[in-house]
Amino acid sequence: MTTAFTASPFVGKTFGVTVAHLTKKFGRTTVLSDINFEVKPGEIYCIMGPSGSGKSVLLRHIAGLEIATSGEVRIGEFDAADQSTRDKVHLALVFQAGALFNSLSVYDNLALYLREHRLYDEAGIRDRVMHALSILSLDKAARKFPAELSGGMKKRVAIARGLVMEPQLLLYDEPTSELDPVMGATISEIIATLREQTAVTSIVVTHDRDLAVNIADRIAIIMDGRIRATGTAADFKRPADPDIANFLSPVIDLKNPRFKQLENHHE
Ligand SMILES: Nc1ncnc2c1ncn2[C@@H]1O[C@H](COP(=O)(O)OP(=O)(O)OP(=O)(O)O)[C@@H](O)[C@H]1O
Ligand SMILES: [Mg+2]
Repeated sequence: MTTAFTASPFVGKTFGVTVAHLTKKFGRTTVLSDINFEVKPGEIYCIMGPSGSGKSVLLRHIAGLEIATSGEVRIGEFDAADQSTRDKVHLALVFQAGALFNSLSVYDNLALYLREHRLYDEAGIRDRVMHALSILSLDKAARKFPAELSGGMKKRVAIARGLVMEPQLLLYDEPTSELDPVMGATISEIIATLREQTAVTSIVVTHDRDLAVNIADRIAIIMDGRIRATGTAADFKRPADPDIANFLSPVIDLKNPRFKQLENHHE
């Protein structure tokens, strides 16, 4: 990966992210509760936590797709909820489920953003799109439509689309779910390499412990809409908090399975 991602007018300046007293309610349900953390410019920050703990909702606030009930998110000095921020900060969100346009080929899904923003001529677009596809071993899929792809391929297309946008802030929602272990490792390497080459700030929501341990500068663990702990990978090697230990290294106990514990709990 060399020139294709460093020629952008956007690359060079990078932004930190500050989340301050962020609370989000849907109706009466509080999904995020007084979340506070800071991501430094150029950092890879992983957010881990159980299913339903609020990770995707948090990421959507950073991307400016969700309005906080209280508190705020700032990207550099800009308010993430302010629509004009998207003109000042080049931000890409790799959605958990891909969010591809079904009526467009893979190639056109990737080219769309560059065409809309008139960033390059068609030859320049072609170079960038094909380069991103080749990084993700998708060269042969350029003319396919999303319905013709496996779940893991759609995921890789979504990541490739993030790459061609040449972002200053890259938000990933479960980039390695649905991928085989080798492709998962490849994605981890891509996230780390991109940061190295373009100084892009990366926030990665993931269940993938290997990904977090290998590439995160820092990790935050969110449970029930609250930050339970933050630290480096080393800090989470032997967590004292039993909930975190159980989340990171769940023991499969066939003699006392969790679903039985739940049944007993309800009796
Ligand atoms: N638009 C919405 N309206 C109402 N509730 C919502 C909405 N979006 C999310 N929620 C709720 O917020 C909670 C957190 O959802 P979120 O998608 O952030 O979980 P998550 O941590 O990303 O889980 P997973 O690991 O399964 O992706 C869930 O209980 C979900 O039902
Ligand atoms: Mg999610």
